[in-house]
Amino acid sequence: MTPPISLIPQPQSLRVGKGELHLNTESTISCSGQGALDLGHLLAEYLRPATGFPFPVSEGNNHGTLHLEATALAEADEAGFVDEQYTLTVTASQLCISAPNATGLARGIQTLRQLLPPAILSESIQDSPWVLPQVEIEDSPRFRWRGQHLDVCRHFFTVEEVCNFIDQLALHRFNICHLHLTEDQGWRIEIKKYPRLTEVGSIRESTLIGHEEDRPRKYDNTPYGGFYTQEDIKQIIAFARRRHITLVPEIDMPGHMVAAITAYPELGNFETKTRVRCHWGISQNVLNVEDSTVNFMKDVLDEVMDLFPGHFIHIGGDEAPKFEWSESERAQVRMAELGLKNEDELQSWFIRQMDAHITKAGRRLIGWGEILEGGLAEGAAVMSWRSETSGMEAAEQGHDVVMAPSQRVYFDHYQSEPKADEPLAIHGLTTLEQVYSYEPIPEEMPQNQRHHILGAQGQLWTEYIKTIDDVNYMGYPRICALAEVLWLTPTQKDYSDFTQRLKSHRERLTHLGINACPKP
Ligand code: ACM
Repeated sequence: MTPPISLIPQPQSLRVGKGELHLNTESTISCSGQGALDLGHLLAEYLRPATGFPFPVSEGNNHGTLHLEATALAEADEAGFVDEQYTLTVTASQLCISAPNATGLARGIQTLRQLLPPAILSESIQDSPWVLPQVEIEDSPRFRWRGQHLDVCRHFFTVEEVCNFIDQLALHRFNICHLHLTEDQGWRIEIKKYPRLTEVGSIRESTLIGHEEDRPRKYDNTPYGGFYTQEDIKQIIAFARRRHITLVPEIDMPGHMVAAITAYPELGNFETKTRVRCHWGISQNVLNVEDSTVNFMKDVLDEVMDLFPGHFIHIGGDEAPKFEWSESERAQVRMAELGLKNEDELQSWFIRQMDAHITKAGRRLIGWGEILEGGLAEGAAVMSWRSETSGMEAAEQGHDVVMAPSQRVYFDHYQSEPKADEPLAIHGLTTLEQVYSYEPIPEEMPQNQRHHILGAQGQLWTEYIKTIDDVNYMGYPRICALAEVLWLTPTQKDYSDFTQRLKSHRERLTHLGINACPKP
């Protein structure tokens, strides 16, 4: 007997037949079309540990028990996204995933994994009948940007942990993972031209204990550090690329730069010595606006763009207090020289320098909503986080938008009451149901601007999230809900059906070693 079908996200169309397909030691995988073979190997790697079956992979015929066929080449649209549709058909003798390109196949093989019993996700051999129900699935996502962010700065996660995190996003058919790589509390990516960024900037002397608002502040007096070498970054990129997930690297500027300023004090506005920040909150220390600093950041972005192949480069732009610029004589002189009226325009000028540089390299800048202040750079896209207002404004001005409102998709908020029973979180309450009911296109947005909403993204800021287990607890099951928000239209969504499916999906999460929040 095949187990009931419970897929997350639910596909666009699912027809269930009566029969089933049994996998056994004789089962094979065949592949045809560009990029299919690599996915055939990935599929075999997914299926071997729990089944113990060999799943030999071959190219060029459709005789495999599991067949993957890409019928054309992937062609990116103007924003760099490719078609992700696929069809998945199971008969008594074969499962076939067919897609216009390999990215569609990559989505289809994740659905295949969810059609098998949850134990398929186990790392070790499981005693289970490996049976697929006869189905016909036609599927494609609603949104092009289905993202999840991870802050690797406030707390650091190993290459293996980040890869697992990405693999779990792949299972939920996300296509984007945003890595927040630089912060006041730690610079986490090797930049060859400026080694002190990691030699000095990746280590803080101590870390706050308890909540930022607790007084008196207490610290653990233990140095905390970690960073990714460029080889590590290449490994993460290769891992994501194989799953057709695009990484969006973030170098947050001109605020959130205390680690860099500590490593290279000439980037700062004043001579006062800084240290890599040991507690949370917003620092007043921001970059200065000298040409040398602009060039430094362009050099950093050059190395980042050499590593990361994706279209979008995130330059942060959030929470940059203007206090230092208004106090600094040099910044005021610069402002006058550049004919700028105020510090907002100075921030805008700074971001435009980065935009020109990124655009010249054939990429696109994306930044947090604050990049609108003082005027938005031409090609820039906006990630709207404080609410949906900056997203609405950006779309009105003709810019693309990713919705990331803190009220709905910040997974560092509490997820369940009573809060005292939950791990310490930054603040707020964002329940599973609130995430599920989120609609990325605001009702009041005019029809002719709606195409600017590329999609939405969940955020995992890690001030209070110390380990990958904590990441998983805070992320899941809210990430499952977000996956469905991004895949389906509002009329296709059904919360009670979702929670029903989530029951067996939780078994999958358990097999993956994810200790999801058990509530609601
Ligand atoms: C943000 O949460 N500061 C983007």
